[in-house]
Amino acid sequence: MIALEDQIRGCIAGGLQGKPPAYGSEQLTQLVSYVTSLSQGKPLDMGGKPQ
Ligand code: HEM
Repeated sequence: MIALEDQIRGCIAGGLQGKPPAYGSEQLTQLVSYVTSLSQGKPLDMGGKPQ
């Protein structure tokens, strides 16, 4: 499992070639809150097929 914090930090470091906000920082908390808000009311779907 990859936490949302880890994915966002990874995207900023890799995809954006930027300096990811520190764990526990206000900036990271706000990005996590924003991305979480986008999924409100949507069904949880991990994709793939059970083996
Ligand atoms: C603030 C939130 C985020 C930002 C700013 C961000 C930014 C980016 C950027 C710039 C890339 C590179 C795109 C490219 O090279 O064309 C990327 C790739 C990717 N991101 Fe994010 N991302 C964010 C959140 C997420 C989240 C929440 C997930 C998954 C739950 C995610 C999954 C991925 C994946 C799988 C890729 C690779 C896609 C590919 O190479 O085709 N990202 N992200």
